[in-house]
Amino acid sequence: MKHATCMFRAMNEIDIPQVYCIDHESFPAESMFRPYSSYNREIHNSMARYIVGCVPSIRRMKEVQRSWFSRLLDKGPWRFPHPVMPQELLVGFAGFWVMLDEAHIIAIAVRERYRRQGIGEGLLLAVIDMATTMNNRILTLEVRESNHAAQQMYLKHGFRVVGRRPRYYSDNQEDAVLMSVEDLNAPEFREHVRQQRDRLLRQECLARTIELGDGAFDEMLS
Ligand SMILES: CC(C)(COP(=O)(O)OP(=O)(O)OC[C@H]1O[C@@H](n2cnc3c(N)ncnc32)[C@H](O)[C@@H]1OP(=O)(O)O)[C@@H](O)C(=O)NCCC(=O)NCCS
Repeated sequence: MKHATCMFRAMNEIDIPQVYCIDHESFPAESMFRPYSSYNREIHNSMARYIVGCVPSIRRMKEVQRSWFSRLLDKGPWRFPHPVMPQELLVGFAGFWVMLDEAHIIAIAVRERYRRQGIGEGLLLAVIDMATTMNNRILTLEVRESNHAAQQMYLKHGFRVVGRRPRYYSDNQEDAVLMSVEDLNAPEFREHVRQQRDRLLRQECLARTIELGDGAFDEMLS
């Protein structure tokens, strides 16, 4: 089994084809309303921010490891964006919109075959980090009532259930559960994020070492 390090950076136009696939795989009902052109619009929307989780090519990894060594020494902030290399496998993406002091998560998704490896929570921490840096105070989202995996992830990272929107999803009339972090600057929340961030840093990069599977994406990663 091959392993690789997944990193997070701001989404770029070159990422759109892979983000489109992940979006459609992860949100078959909602993504029907997101044509290909909408991703390009979103990247240039000043109120939106998108992050991707990616596995870089080996050459790119060497560059990143060099810059990581210096970042570990000064424990500086996560930096966005990393320069984009064409040969990257995208394993997940996240997006949020900013309104006044509220950041609203509109999507977090991980390619199905790469789930349960910490990529989802890496994306979420990257969103929290970016939203805090942009001086947002509240982080909110809606999640399907039946989506226990996502709800568990949000609960693990300090979100609380604050409401419900009945029959919010038009495909099956499912309720949405509203979840939020009420104060991104609360000392206990900041401490939680600091601990999680240190945990990821100790694992040497922004995210996790993940399993790639035999033969998968060999050309892309060589
Ligand atoms: C939700 C999603 C992004 C999680 O991504 P992931 O990379 O698999 O999640 P992680 O491995 O980072 O898991 C983080 C935490 O989430 C929770 N979690 C994730 N998948 C879970 C599952 N299948 N069952 C229960 N809990 C789960 C756990 O609390 C986990 O922490 P743990 O590993 O310490 O138990 C992924 O399942 C996905 O893309 N789903 C489809 C799209 C979606 O529903 N997005 C959310 C919309 S609001």
